[in-house]
Amino acid sequence: MRALPPLIDVTFLPGITGEPAWAVDVLDPEELSRWSSLHATGRPLFLAAHVGARLLAARRASWVTDESGEAPPMTAFGWLTLPSGKPMLTFRDGRPQPLHVSVAHGGGLAAAAVCDHGPIGVDVEHVDTRRNLLAIARRFYAEAEHAELERCGVDERTVRFHQWWTRKEAVLKATGVGLRGGLTVRVDAPADRDGWRPVALDGHDAPLFVRDLRTPDAGVFGAIAIEGQPGVVQVVTTAVDERWA
Ligand SMILES: CC(C)(COP(=O)(O)OP(=O)(O)OC[C@H]1O[C@@H](n2cnc3c(N)ncnc32)[C@H](O)[C@@H]1OP(=O)(O)O)[C@@H](O)C(=O)NCCC(=O)NCCS
Repeated sequence: MRALPPLIDVTFLPGITGEPAWAVDVLDPEELSRWSSLHATGRPLFLAAHVGARLLAARRASWVTDESGEAPPMTAFGWLTLPSGKPMLTFRDGRPQPLHVSVAHGGGLAAAAVCDHGPIGVDVEHVDTRRNLLAIARRFYAEAEHAELERCGVDERTVRFHQWWTRKEAVLKATGVGLRGGLTVRVDAPADRDGWRPVALDGHDAPLFVRDLRTPDAGVFGAIAIEGQPGVVQVVTTAVDERWA
């Protein structure tokens, strides 16, 4: 019998504004202190991404708890940030739980993803017309990518630049190396019928795959990467519930 492909749940949320009182209970102390230290403009999306990850994890109750079988409350989860910056969702008492998690927050949208199989990375990036895309590509992308962007018209350049950017960041989050891994990794291998592209990253032996994500905002590009094997991506609608308080 063939094993089922990994299931990857993704959710997109707008920022959670107003600094709700329940945030103190939902976030663990380390997150709370990072949230409080952010500039006011960054807090709503940070909170949305971290809440979104918990909402997805709670939906996977049978994977995260073997006790009552009921979905755990938001307050059941803790959050650990590894020295590299890679996040791990834990139980509130610090015990590890088996779901892999990734978040992104920027450009007016928060994204969270969980997966029960392998490390994942999610990224979103909004189009900012003030950016000099060619200059950024010259500095960070592979030479051939920069040359290709130079040959494109403006619209195509915008699309390719952002697709590559989000795919690269998603890959670097999945591996846990972050931007230190370098943005020269190529992410334009042919896609399979589900949109997954294999990625070869120097010094990384485990197979890596990346695919684009359609976000709820046409001006925001998104991508998800997974280590191991391509999965089935489920975009889940989540909503903030004031009863968490
Ligand atoms: C990871 C990185 C690509 C994120 O990009 P970004 O555009 O700034 O921000 P995004 O909104 O897309 O993503 C932010 C999330 O990336 C995640 N992240 C950060 N570093 C990560 C890493 N090494 N691996 C996986 N995920 C990481 C975090 O969950 C973070 O959200 P959180 O702080 O709320 O938990 C980039 O910030 C990076 O490379 N950081 C490296 C950090 C670093 O070098 N730290 C050195 C510590 S010694």
